[in-house]
Amino acid sequence: MRTVRTVPSAEHGAERWSPCAPNATTWARCPWSAHRRLRSSLSAADARVAVGWRNFERRRNDGGVSTDSTPLVRQVAHGDRDWVAVTLRREWTSTFVARLGELVEAAGLPGYVATLDGRRVGLALVDVRDREFEVVAISTTEPRRGVGAALMERCFADARAMRCRRVWLVTTNNNVAAIGFYQRVGMDLRALHRHAVRASRELKPTIPERDAAGIPIDHEIEFELLLEA
Ligand SMILES: CC(C)(COP(=O)(O)OP(=O)(O)OC[C@H]1O[C@@H](n2cnc3c(N)ncnc32)[C@H](O)[C@@H]1OP(=O)(O)O)[C@@H](O)C(=O)NCCC(=O)NCCS
Repeated sequence: MRTVRTVPSAEHGAERWSPCAPNATTWARCPWSAHRRLRSSLSAADARVAVGWRNFERRRNDGGVSTDSTPLVRQVAHGDRDWVAVTLRREWTSTFVARLGELVEAAGLPGYVATLDGRRVGLALVDVRDREFEVVAISTTEPRRGVGAALMERCFADARAMRCRRVWLVTTNNNVAAIGFYQRVGMDLRALHRHAVRASRELKPTIPERDAAGIPIDHEIEFELLLEA
């Protein structure tokens, strides 16, 4: 029997509003044609995610509880939209994401759902413009099980299929888990946007001054994976 340990999202941070997220302007600039192109490209690859990631083969020792669950990744479907909105609100207090002085309504963005044994355990929302593939939001309710890596691998694969120049995203200085994670999946530091959270906070006042650990939330850090020279 396969058993999966469920880890409450609160375990890895009570509230996250910080970016991985866009702006209202971004949403306005995001043409439906780009969404259609993305959907069309994604539909061809809607199956099991690359099994190359070593986490997929990993079998964790959860105190005697065994699991051989493998994350599966598929496109966000119409029927996922309520769950997407709930997930965004749980992780970032609203469906809006702010970064680099922009505010974006993320709930309607295309993206991916990760499942374990049929349960939705991860979400990545993306925005593709000018051959740049932005991961606007990514989260999982079951950390350190390869869910995030599976979602990012899917993003990388589809960005390549769409001939994007790079995959990029923004996080904040306090999010040490995300900073470790992005580098582990192969992304590199692109830029440090000092004090950029101040502008994001003006657009999204629910972004607190400090996180649950008391760390000031002030800077935005941009990561990228270049897909061509
Ligand atoms: C960031 C996040 C998506 C990572 O997803 P995940 O499913 O836990 O990541 P994975 O299990 O695929 O981890 C892959 C590797 O990334 C690194 N990593 C993941 N979480 C890490 C952490 N908390 N600290 C350090 N490294 C970490 C590890 O090297 C890990 O491999 P390992 O478990 O074999 O050591 C997840 O922690 C999350 O949902 N965080 C809350 C939401 C959030 O902050 N999103 C980002 C906003 S910008």
